[in-house]
Amino acid sequence: MFARHRRLRLTPAIRDLVRETVLTPLDFIYPLFVVEGKNIKQEIPSLPGNYHLSVDRLPEIVEQVLTAGVRSVLLFGLPEKKDEIATSAWEKNGVVQQAIHQIKKLFPAIWVITDVCMCQYTSHGHCGIVKNGVVQNDETLEYLAKIALSHAQAGADMVAPSDMMDGRIFIIRGRLDGGGFPNLPIMAYSAKYSSGFYGPFREAAHSAPQFGDRNTYQMDPANIRQAMLEIESDLRQGADVVMVKPALAYLDVIRHARDRFDVPIAAYNVSGEFAMIKAAAERGWIDERRVALETLTAIKRAGADMIITYYALDACGWMLEIV
Ligand code: PBG
Repeated sequence: MFARHRRLRLTPAIRDLVRETVLTPLDFIYPLFVVEGKNIKQEIPSLPGNYHLSVDRLPEIVEQVLTAGVRSVLLFGLPEKKDEIATSAWEKNGVVQQAIHQIKKLFPAIWVITDVCMCQYTSHGHCGIVKNGVVQNDETLEYLAKIALSHAQAGADMVAPSDMMDGRIFIIRGRLDGGGFPNLPIMAYSAKYSSGFYGPFREAAHSAPQFGDRNTYQMDPANIRQAMLEIESDLRQGADVVMVKPALAYLDVIRHARDRFDVPIAAYNVSGEFAMIKAAAERGWIDERRVALETLTAIKRAGADMIITYYALDACGWMLEIV
């Protein structure tokens, strides 16, 4: 006597019925890169199919996002001016602030998340204030709070601090509450690893550190217990959603977090994960559609409630084709 597992794999219809993990467009958050200037829609070489967009060209992409069925975007700004303290990150008329304004004005229902960090805005490319070559934790917090509040004031629906300074959720929560935004949630990049998979993003966002690396603030890829501590810490400080990033090489971290914490978990399917599939598919080595959907399904199966992915729009199209 043995079990006949293949009975439930006989036809597409029965396979659909027993499928445990089903992707929907509502799982996805689509990242957008906003640049200064006018009438700019320029493909990002390291992220094929993704664009640098000026504020006036955002609406057409947001329309595509909504048509695909995706309801949420994550905004990154690429300012023209960078300085030591990331001034353009919190200016009222900064590039992200304008983008938020524009999107919410035209599409009030879309959920606009903003990346709160300094690295695209600092001349040295680090995620905080640098003194004597060292990224300063406590001094940085004040700036992060200022940036987050400016996003809220511009109309953001949720802020997502990605800097990995200690105490940032606490200070941002306090500043949002004090500024009249007690209902604005925080999605914390809690378990953010110091990863080689961010390579293509740094080219896309012009945010590579000009000296050293991010190893003193982002996490060591070897650690999972530490990830649980980071998540716990962010939750205690007031995070509403926690994130594991990258996703693919960290599925165990997503699963562990899922089993341990009853809060929504986001996973960031980062630029290098996207680029690897793209590049291999271009060479004809893998089937892009199949591998991309397999990857996204795996991230959801591991326990992610929402997935930030450069594949969001393509995946929605491909999901419709599947019979
Ligand atoms: C900014 C930030 C980074 C990413 C998201 N926010 C880069 C970094 O930490 O160097 C990476 C996203 C990706 O690779 O897709 N701190």
